[in-house]
Amino acid sequence: MTSAQPLPSVLFVCLGNICRSPLAEAALRHQALSAGIDVLVDSAGTGSWHVGKGPDPRSCAEASRHGIDIGAYRARQVGREDFTRFDRIIALDRSNLADLQRIAPPAPRAVLSLLLDHVPGMAGRDVADPYFGGPEGFVETWRQVSEAARHLLETIRREGL
Ligand code: 4NP
Repeated sequence: MTSAQPLPSVLFVCLGNICRSPLAEAALRHQALSAGIDVLVDSAGTGSWHVGKGPDPRSCAEASRHGIDIGAYRARQVGREDFTRFDRIIALDRSNLADLQRIAPPAPRAVLSLLLDHVPGMAGRDVADPYFGGPEGFVETWRQVSEAARHLLETIRREGL
């Protein structure tokens, strides 16, 4: 029997949608799959520079080190319709969150939050942008987004949303 309930849905948003948010998307999708929890997961950027492009090769390499292929992901820009399509829109840093708050329609369905607010002891912190640094930044990004995904999945499991 199929459920009439729509799947819980999460959209991760960073600036370019080529470094951090694709890794957050991959982390949550794969943890949900392993846990047998159905969640609709996507990512987008506040900027439009990389629309249609694949993730940064350093993000692909980091995902690959964890057995995940994100090569087919394509960058897109967040739009107003996302605020009605998703239960949660989660910003990777405070600047992304401020941009989302600015473009949000009145009374959106989506609840906006900062990713690291989902990690005890990390509230208010940014997932640093690794774009202009070396590969070690992507290792740290993966560590942060996968820890946040673990807590988020626990919340989704508990609340069903
Ligand atoms: P992201 O990283 O927001 O984590 O995807 C960036 C990617 C590209 C640029 C900045 C940040 N950029 O300036 O092109």
